[in-house]
Amino acid sequence: MSMWADYIREMGLLEIIEEEYGWVTFHIQEPSSVVINDLYVRPANRRSGKGTLLLQQVEDFALKFGCTTILVGIHRESATKSGTYAAALVSGFVVHEEAKLCTIMRKDLGGK
Ligand SMILES: CC(C)(COP(=O)(O)OP(=O)(O)OC[C@H]1O[C@@H](n2cnc3c(N)ncnc32)[C@H](O)[C@@H]1OP(=O)(O)O)[C@@H](O)C(=O)NCCC(=O)NCCS
Repeated sequence: MSMWADYIREMGLLEIIEEEYGWVTFHIQEPSSVVINDLYVRPANRRSGKGTLLLQQVEDFALKFGCTTILVGIHRESATKSGTYAAALVSGFVVHEEAKLCTIMRKDLGGK
């Protein structure tokens, strides 16, 4: 486990899933949503399904805790450059809300 993951766990405010290729931080927002704070895949490991794998693990966590929605805020300025928006669409997210600086994407887990 990295020092970053140690820090996140010690603070106790966020969950973190960390793999050799990247990590994702998230938290439960009552009553039934999981909110992704950050998602990162090392550049050398991108475009090989690793981001999708991390999102799948968040989805498994959400279902385990009875959550029915995953939300993620994507900053518009970096979205095109990083491919984040495309990755979210591929993973089944839809636009939930256009906020001032970011687009909030939503994935509904109902029926799974
Ligand atoms: C966004 C990010 C997590 C995607 O990780 P990844 O491991 O490359 O994602 P995947 O390989 O699972 O991609 C799934 C699909 O998303 C789309 N996609 C991902 N990156 C893309 C890019 N740069 N341009 C266009 N489409 C992209 C593709 O359709 C891809 O499928 P394909 O490779 O079969 O065409 C990674 O690029 C990253 O860490 N970026 C910097 C940090 C960041 O922006 N985090 C998000 C903040 S919330």
